[in-house]
Amino acid sequence: MTMRRVGLIGWRGMVGSVLVERMRAEGDLALIQPQFFSTTQTGAAGPEIGRATGPVCDANDVAALSRCEILISCQGGEYTDAIHPKLRASGWNGHWIDAASALRMKDSAVIILDPVNRHVIDAGLAAGARDWIGGNCTVSLMLMAFGGLFRTGLVEWMTTMTYQAASGAGAKQMRELLQQMGRVHAAAAELLDDPASAILDIDRSTTAAMRDGAMPIDHLGQPLAGSLLPWVDRDLGNGYSREEFKAGAEGNKILGRSGAPVPIDGLCVRVGVMRCHSQAVTIKLRKPTPLSEVEKILLAVHPWIRIVPNEREASLARLTPAAVTGTLEIAVGRIRHLAMGQDYLTAFTVGDQLLWGAAEPLRRMLRLLIGR
Ligand code: HSE
Repeated sequence: MTMRRVGLIGWRGMVGSVLVERMRAEGDLALIQPQFFSTTQTGAAGPEIGRATGPVCDANDVAALSRCEILISCQGGEYTDAIHPKLRASGWNGHWIDAASALRMKDSAVIILDPVNRHVIDAGLAAGARDWIGGNCTVSLMLMAFGGLFRTGLVEWMTTMTYQAASGAGAKQMRELLQQMGRVHAAAAELLDDPASAILDIDRSTTAAMRDGAMPIDHLGQPLAGSLLPWVDRDLGNGYSREEFKAGAEGNKILGRSGAPVPIDGLCVRVGVMRCHSQAVTIKLRKPTPLSEVEKILLAVHPWIRIVPNEREASLARLTPAAVTGTLEIAVGRIRHLAMGQDYLTAFTVGDQLLWGAAEPLRRMLRLLIGR
């Protein structure tokens, strides 16, 4: 069998690096003929993947891109907006797999999250779809956690309140968060070393550091260390942030039910976490459902779910970004009914924003395409 020629664009960035790392770990690269593309490094060597890959090609060269049957882009939305229409206009009919949001809501594009929406992907394949777009990280992680309840038709509506990591904003924001943490600590370091110092003096020092205008905020825009940012992404001008709008719009598209959408809505908040997004949800169920039944439904969807018992020790040890980061686990815990009734459910979920939230669905779509 001839190996498919697959072009990788944006592999030097954060999502792209995680993608290549995962592809190496899963042996994907051995199954394809990879061609690395770059907007700035034409002619340079590609990443170390254990075999020769030839020099890096120009990511703006439509003819070179067209020689690939499959292209995977982690280069970002501006690149997609600039290149994708040119490629299609040139007659290229290959598969375009993309992490960026640019094409996500187009009718011609399928949002890929195969453990949850394989039926939507299969329908797309049967209908000749060619654009396969990774979902918003928060939405993908929410559906990886609660997809089962949607699948069984149990969800009447859902709210999701998010605690989003700096990685969702970008690598520079992650670095800046750590710089901010360092500065907050430095402001109180001397007092901290003195066991006799007063806690309110320590608090005054750190608050002053957050407000004195010297905190590095070029990328985050505000102090995040010691604080939080209750707005993620652009202001849509109607009370919604763009991130909040995506929950319902993308969530229902992923589930293949944009025609009869389930209301999914809530507030999105950035917190001082490196790369795990957490979400607290309220779900209105269509009928009173025992918790044992809920857990069974959640577990049935895919093998990466980890139900954390709704107990203090387990929740603090296993339902946190510190426990989940860097793994494919989708931790779901704090599952209980609310005081409003047995048809109201609350839960908390944590997932790695760069894995299931970004890179993993892309490499799995590639596997799906080359396995056909
Ligand atoms: N927009 C998300 C965030 C990440 O800012 O956390 C990408 O989907």
